[in-house]
Amino acid sequence: MIKIVNLKKSFNSHEVLRGVNLTIPGDKISFIMGRSGTGKSVLLKHIVGLLKPDEGEIWFENQDITKLSERELQKIRKKIGFLFQEGALFDSMTVAENVAFPLQEHTKLSKREIKEKVEELLQAVELFEAKDKYPSELSGGMRKRVALARTLALNPQVILFDEPTTGLDPILQITIMDLIKKIKETFHLTCVIISHDLILAYKYADYIAFLDQGVIIEEGDVEKIKASTHPFVVKFRESALLDLEKKEV
Ligand SMILES: Nc1ncnc2c1ncn2[C@@H]1O[C@H](COP(=O)(O)OP(=O)(O)O)[C@@H](O)[C@H]1O
Ligand SMILES: [Mg+2]
Repeated sequence: MIKIVNLKKSFNSHEVLRGVNLTIPGDKISFIMGRSGTGKSVLLKHIVGLLKPDEGEIWFENQDITKLSERELQKIRKKIGFLFQEGALFDSMTVAENVAFPLQEHTKLSKREIKEKVEELLQAVELFEAKDKYPSELSGGMRKRVALARTLALNPQVILFDEPTTGLDPILQITIMDLIKKIKETFHLTCVIISHDLILAYKYADYIAFLDQGVIIEEGDVEKIKASTHPFVVKFRESALLDLEKKEV
């Protein structure tokens, strides 16, 4: 579905991505895991063309998107939604106005059609009752759901989630992940989730890839990751108190 080939990116002399090779399967939930500051967000930003690589390719629908013009990228961005780590809602707009915004900007729908679509989206993320509230009146988990509804508005095929559960309490993390899973199934989406929570990955991922020191050092399904002897993965498991020799998780 999305194929990343030998992707390299440096900032000044700091090599962040040193040749990332990764195939993200379609219609699945993939987790990209790694330590803070390893380039996970940088990698996602390349997939929507917000950053240009120094070298390498990103294939989506038979096009190398790293070679596209800004105008061609606009089309890709309707198909690949991006949920920023910060959520990035408009504070001066209500929940409903936030969700309506991309529909007003990018579609020719009438006011009434937009209103109906917004209501449908807010129902999908279980936030209909909050439609007239402002972002400042919402909890962190609710704001993430508004951002999700706004991303869903343009019917993307792929959604990239940059740490959707970081900073939420454990119950809310599950709530958000259950919602992502439900929405993935309802809308037949490909979901890519950046996380450092291995427990969530075990529960929700069809596919897991580890980014370390600028390359993918291990990848596969949950069973493969549980059995991996790669030192970084072993450390990651231990640090999540998931040393599988000692514990059944
Ligand atoms: N636009 C930028 N300019 C310069 N350095 C950047 C830029 N974006 C990211 N970096 C650097 O790249 C590294 C990886 O960042 P990031 O992808 O945000 O890490 P994370 O894995 O925590 O998401 C960090 O050292 C960060 O400072
Ligand atoms: Mg990040």
